[in-house]
Amino acid sequence: MKQPKRYTVTAALPYANGPLHVGHLAGAYIAADIYVRYLRLQGKDVIFVCGSDEHGAAITIKAKKENTTPRAIVDKYNAVIRDSFEKFGIAFDIYHRTSEAIHYETSQDFFRILNDKHAFEVKESEQYYDEEANQFLADRYIMGTCPKCSNENAYGDQCEKCGSTLNPTELIHPRSTISGNQPVLRKTKHWFLKLNEYQQEITTWLETKKDIWKSHVYGQCKSWLDAGLQPRAMTRDLDWGIPVPAEIEGAEGKVLYVWLDAPIGYISATKELFKEIEEDKFHFAYPKNISPLIRNKKADDWKAYWQDEETQLIHFIGKDNIVFHCITFPAILKATQQYILPENVPANEFMNLEGDKISTSRNWAVWLHEYLENFPGREDELRYALIANMPENKDSEFTWTDFQTRVNSELGNNLGNFVKRVSDLLHKFYDGVVPQQELDPEVLQMLDTVTAAVQDNIASFKFRDAQFEVMQLSSYGNKYLQDNEPWKLIKTDEESVRKIMYTAYIIVESLAVLMRPLLPKTAAKIEHIFNLVEDGSDEGRMQIGASEILFPKVEDEQIQQQLDKLNKSKMDNAVQQTGVEEHIAAVKPEITFDDFSKLDIRTGKILHAEKVEKADKLLKLLVDVGFEQRTIVSGIAPHFRSEEIIGQQVSVVVNLAPRKLKGIESNGMVLMAEDKDGKLYFVQAQEVSVGNIIR
Ligand code: 2FM
Ligand code: ZN
Repeated sequence: MKQPKRYTVTAALPYANGPLHVGHLAGAYIAADIYVRYLRLQGKDVIFVCGSDEHGAAITIKAKKENTTPRAIVDKYNAVIRDSFEKFGIAFDIYHRTSEAIHYETSQDFFRILNDKHAFEVKESEQYYDEEANQFLADRYIMGTCPKCSNENAYGDQCEKCGSTLNPTELIHPRSTISGNQPVLRKTKHWFLKLNEYQQEITTWLETKKDIWKSHVYGQCKSWLDAGLQPRAMTRDLDWGIPVPAEIEGAEGKVLYVWLDAPIGYISATKELFKEIEEDKFHFAYPKNISPLIRNKKADDWKAYWQDEETQLIHFIGKDNIVFHCITFPAILKATQQYILPENVPANEFMNLEGDKISTSRNWAVWLHEYLENFPGREDELRYALIANMPENKDSEFTWTDFQTRVNSELGNNLGNFVKRVSDLLHKFYDGVVPQQELDPEVLQMLDTVTAAVQDNIASFKFRDAQFEVMQLSSYGNKYLQDNEPWKLIKTDEESVRKIMYTAYIIVESLAVLMRPLLPKTAAKIEHIFNLVEDGSDEGRMQIGASEILFPKVEDEQIQQQLDKLNKSKMDNAVQQTGVEEHIAAVKPEITFDDFSKLDIRTGKILHAEKVEKADKLLKLLVDVGFEQRTIVSGIAPHFRSEEIIGQQVSVVVNLAPRKLKGIESNGMVLMAEDKDGKLYFVQAQEVSVGNIIR
């Protein structure tokens, strides 16, 4: 195939109605970022555009829920999302917003063009209306049972379970999401895109993609086309959105459907990018990411990236956006007779979390802003785990234990270990000055093969395989050192050690270069330690810096904290669903029998109790545990007077490490039951002698 002149890469514009989670990163953004970084490294002319999707019911519903305005919602979440993307190093050229004036103009222009080209038919039809809220119910304002898969929570415009695009009137048992009421039908007028008229053209175009696109993407499109395309309303009766151009008769008070304006957002972002480049004033764009090939362009040059046949347009999205990017938007682009169509839409499937679908409403997610707080500076570790599990061709799963294993065993023990060994040995043998040598041709050959494999995989959107190849090279490096044992050989054969260490150094350098698109922060760290110059060459810079632990261990407690958090969501949801309102403490995560058997719990009897001076809550107890008498300090003073508990039978953890409380050493813990109001009770069924083991 002829090499394209330039690339336009887009990543789905996330709704500015909530923060991002791991599913977003794994679905579209990491994939897009790897691909773009790879193209940039190849010296290609590429732009990478994204931004916030700030219209539609997703926004207004959230505003209502938070008792605020749509404007406040989009301002808040645009900032949160932009920040997460920046911290995870998703290297957009621009992160724009669909509430900007340039986007209004661009979208309204599209509407005019489509209108002029007779791509719309204006139809009066019956639409659902909520009489209590005095509002037509479009899209997410209406829910009901999906006619295709029976999902009871399908939206008016889409079923997220089976991916079908719907019209509200197709829903079985429709209900208003504002009042919960059954809506009534009322007449209203809308502008429908005559998708049916594009059936043939889209089919012919998609056929050319049959063997190129991912099969699940092609498959979804095909089943759509097989079902026959229907006209779809591109206007809405809402008060939040881009107004239909004023000169269009009879459209007063109507706004553009969010799925008409959102993809046009890629184009307005591109216009804004080139405008900012020409003016050399950056507001939404990131000058540090913009490739030198583009830095001297003019505002008008955006056109080449959308209208020149020698441009390749690639949309990175999640699977719920397939139909809009592969059928509706292409039909719109085609209707204008000015724009190019996407070359590929390498959509990913969904990433689940700990055995369940990620869900914002159920708070079943790993939120990026929380991850950044809990694991500061460890963005590449998450990136690695998400790439390794990327749902490229089927749904995948994120689990915290998998994350821990990947970080500790794969990144730490394999990659981190190899890099550190090489730098430590170079310091030890040569004071950090790399001994320049001839490279073994076999190793050279192997490096070429790995490089080609990584590049081919990235170019064909197989990011998991690309990362796997890199890790294989790291394993090779470890094995190479292990087999050659330079630390032993140094005593007998210095000559060979020089060769071995130079080879190991070159492997590290290759790892860094290959890792750049995949784990950019790690690549930069390695390049820093090994003093590799920007383009990966090492000429004249052979003194390396101090070695570093690249991937500190992720501890069990950190993982436990994350699991506890999810567990709490689960409990909160269970309480909400059952309507049980009393406080139920979250069940702690599962432990093994070995964990349990570490506890030594015995029956005991309180022999003496007294208040601890200057401590309202503490009682100092003397407890007979059978084999000895223990002093135990317990926080039960607010609940019991000393004299009433003397003689009380208790269960005692006798192997808890001693702790000092108010200067008194406490040797064990007395177990109590706590009710929802925090009141404490001794649990005792019948009298037993002291010292019995509880298990
Ligand atoms: O699904 C979503 O989050 C949409 N906001 C994606 C829009 S992609 C594009 F068309 F803008
Ligand atoms: Zn469905």
